[in-house]
Amino acid sequence: GFELEIASSGRVIPVRADQSALAALLAAGIDIPMSCEQGVCGTCLTRVKAGTPDHRDQYLTPEEQAANDQFLPCCSRASSARLVLDL
Ligand code: FES
Repeated sequence: GFELEIASSGRVIPVRADQSALAALLAAGIDIPMSCEQGVCGTCLTRVKAGTPDHRDQYLTPEEQAANDQFLPCCSRASSARLVLDL
């Protein structure tokens, strides 16, 4: 697992290995728009302020993925211990 930090509040939300980052956010009461939940539509796109996403989507271009400043929480994870989200 890894942790998500909400930049605006400093709140830290753990993501278990058996749940998506999106599921962890929704369970914590943080509303993220979503649709496909498979990394193809881009609806759940969320800005990342710090940390390194482990991109598993098919929506962002390789260049966008490499910039590490946004990710798709319905399918992507983190390769750092924590991602700070611009929420
Ligand atoms: Fe479609 Fe995340 S909900 S990419």
